[in-house]
Amino acid sequence: MPWVVREAVRDVNRAVGRRWRAIDPLLPDPGTLPAGCGEPLVVTGDNGRMAGLGVCVHQHIPPQSLNQTWGAADRFTLVPRLPGQDVATAADLLLAEWRDHLAGIGAARGPDTSASVVWPSMDVTGIQALLRHGLQPLTVIAARPRPNGPPPPPRPAYGVTIRPAGPADEESVLALELSLIRYDMHFGGPVWRNATARLVRDEIRDSLARADPWTWLAERNGRPVGLLVDQPPQEAGWIAGMTSKSPAAYLQTMFVDGQERGTGIGAALVRNLHARLDAMGVAVTLLHHSQVNPLSAPFWYRMGYRPLWASWEARPANALR
Ligand SMILES: CC(C)(COP(=O)(O)OP(=O)(O)OC[C@H]1O[C@@H](n2cnc3c(N)ncnc32)[C@H](O)[C@@H]1OP(=O)(O)O)[C@@H](O)C(=O)NCCC(=O)NCCS
Repeated sequence: MPWVVREAVRDVNRAVGRRWRAIDPLLPDPGTLPAGCGEPLVVTGDNGRMAGLGVCVHQHIPPQSLNQTWGAADRFTLVPRLPGQDVATAADLLLAEWRDHLAGIGAARGPDTSASVVWPSMDVTGIQALLRHGLQPLTVIAARPRPNGPPPPPRPAYGVTIRPAGPADEESVLALELSLIRYDMHFGGPVWRNATARLVRDEIRDSLARADPWTWLAERNGRPVGLLVDQPPQEAGWIAGMTSKSPAAYLQTMFVDGQERGTGIGAALVRNLHARLDAMGVAVTLLHHSQVNPLSAPFWYRMGYRPLWASWEARPANALR
């Protein structure tokens, strides 16, 4: 990148940082831009100056990766940096440029593709543009900052025991994990792949073999009825950069058997985890939930979480308008 462009990118990043801090203190510093597929896409304002830019990242997720279950096989992600007063117009221009860029890429025309933009939830200024270009808000990254006061004591669910899972629980954990994926598929996020069940089993086996697997089961009369899996800060580095607070943990899986919902089991599992994270000094816990899952948003917001980012997607990628 020529130095004049590098300087301009730095100025844009600084201005975006100021804007983000003003709208949501949990947003991180914009930091450096990822390496994209080419030079950044640039939006020029009426005064001829740079009004924003975006980098397009291409990712091919191979079938032997569990990550392919969480979305399309070929992912095209726009990372925007829009600093100005008129974010709506700049977003509109940038998305149009990105659409034209993807139209020239053969791999973006297949059926198993997505075009996505991760946008700050509190930044309402660009939403009209995202909608106009055919993007849908699919998933939310929600955050729970550690509360200031002493945490409420964990409240047990009547007749239910919560215990850490170990290697002997592989089948129970697998059944609950797969039930969660099947449930989440209603909302357009995960895609069931030939290798999904095997790869989930492999991941569970590896994690349950650890000394402290950060996986808990809720049981009624010895029958597993709920599952919670967490990643403590040492495993959550992949998402920690999405927030200004540190250290960050990531709540990976939460599922309660359909017959047992609404009886306090989910809350008991989550409060058990929060007590542990709060005592460790974890500053923020992040999680993903589907925007349109009717069960998750009310539950998570009751548990102290709130929206931080929304992932807007067009699937396949050429549904971008
Ligand atoms: C989301 C889920 C884990 C909640 O577990 P649960 O055991 O039913 O929740 P609880 O009974 O412990 O409810 C805890 C609190 O949230 C509230 N709540 C739970 N679900 C709610 C809903 N759909 N609407 C409104 N409030 C809800 C409860 O009223 C309760 O409030 P209280 O503290 O005032 O009593 C469960 O519905 C589930 O497994 N859903 C399918 C999988 C899923 O969506 N997982 C989350 C993916 S991110």
